[in-house]
Amino acid sequence: MTCTLPPPPTSAVDWDNLGFKWVDTNGHVKYVHKDGQWDQGEFVRDSYIKMHVCAPALNYGQECFEGIKAFRCKDGQVRIFRPDANAKRMRYSADLACMAAVPEDLFVQACERAVANNLEFVPPYGSGGALYLRPLLLGTGPEIGLYPAPEFTFIVMVIPVGNFYKSGVKPVDCLVVDNFDRAAPLGTGAAKLGGNYAPVLKHSSAAKEQGYAITLHLDSKTHSNVDEFSTSNFVALTYPSPEHDNKPIFCAPESPSILNSVTKQSLVQLAKSFGWAVENSVVPFTDITSNRFEEIAACGTAAVITPVKSIERQGTKTFIGTSATQEAIGAGFLRLFTAMRGIQNGDLEDPYG
Ligand code: COI
Repeated sequence: MTCTLPPPPTSAVDWDNLGFKWVDTNGHVKYVHKDGQWDQGEFVRDSYIKMHVCAPALNYGQECFEGIKAFRCKDGQVRIFRPDANAKRMRYSADLACMAAVPEDLFVQACERAVANNLEFVPPYGSGGALYLRPLLLGTGPEIGLYPAPEFTFIVMVIPVGNFYKSGVKPVDCLVVDNFDRAAPLGTGAAKLGGNYAPVLKHSSAAKEQGYAITLHLDSKTHSNVDEFSTSNFVALTYPSPEHDNKPIFCAPESPSILNSVTKQSLVQLAKSFGWAVENSVVPFTDITSNRFEEIAACGTAAVITPVKSIERQGTKTFIGTSATQEAIGAGFLRLFTAMRGIQNGDLEDPYG
């Protein structure tokens, strides 16, 4: 989306100290689906929403969400990064949770409307920050039986954000969670349902208390393959080798229990454009312990690319790559990060946009 003269960033926000936390903005957009159709939507200033006490969103977790970012670019324009990809994923999640689909054009319009009403909350160009968009689809009408809601609410709220992990793009320590299965083999792991995230909180909070910024979850059937991090997808780069033209292989596991991250899809495109081979297959945990990867990172809208320094499982810690990649983001992910940010900031043309 482009706007001719977006207002500059407001002075009401401390742009140098943005984290990933709530900041009051002008408001959000809200659409209601009733009697088989979506209404025209409205812009709402109140940050509290009203729904029926008997709403399946509250009682049975009939809910899904998305994460998107909008950037202030060098040319002064504000652009939303690939909302159409998130629109498609929300349709997938809505279908799994038996909710009314949000048509792709309505979804994108809602994102544009939320941003257009909050332009002064888009962080300054080059600050590293972005306006985070959180679309939410909720079953809000009354239904106490185990049936889908008779009414749905679709919201797009916005928050100016900086880094998700305090360290920014500095490598973090990771803990493998072995006493809890995040996503069942035939379950809903590939959907962005709130119900996939709440059960992880207990484990990620305990890990944080022990000094691990992030947790990793393995496949529930064999516990021997990598699924994803609690917040984001697992991606890795092998050591460059002569068989691969001295280039790394970009590895990203894919399975019905892993969320199909829009950031990961974008990184796959970029890796291919660099001439790197891409492996979208199973990643055995032994690939980590046998030091197959020079770099490992968590990737997602919020996490962007967060490099991982070490991965600990059942008391055994594996350091990733070399002392250089444990200190700072490695050359491979730095190249991907720079290209991605360049596209998002409008410094580089988006070859796929
Ligand atoms: C995102 O990356 O946008 C997400 O929704 C992940 C969430 C855990 C912050």
